[in-house]
Amino acid sequence: MTAPAAAGPAPTGTISPAGLASGPRLEQGRALFSARCQSCHALPEPGRLSPEAWPGEVRGMSRKSGLSAEQTTLVAEYLTVASREARRR
Ligand code: HEC
Repeated sequence: MTAPAAAGPAPTGTISPAGLASGPRLEQGRALFSARCQSCHALPEPGRLSPEAWPGEVRGMSRKSGLSAEQTTLVAEYLTVASREARRR
């Protein structure tokens, strides 16, 4: 409950559906990311890592987070798209 998720700019509104994931899948990934990735550290900025780097990072962190394979994919897709968007600005 200490996370700045609601305080920062929400990336959702700017994500174009042209990426890997769109619509409900992207929203599920975003929700899992904010629910499961900030119990140990602050929620990382999607633009912190390159789109290419996120899937590997999420795979490593998914073990810590107890995410299923499907959930890991959703979070990785979300962060890949969100990173691409963040770095385009
Ligand atoms: C159980 C605790 C825990 C959870 C849950 C967790 N992390 Fe981490 N995370 C860590 C620790 C500890 C480190 C630093 C050491 C390391 O890299 O293993 C870290 C480091 C990171 C880094 C590197 C930060 C940097 O400064 O380079 C990223 C990115 C990251 N986590 C993303 C995530 C994502 C995405 C999730 C959700 C899928 C997640 N973490 C869930 C414990 C956690």
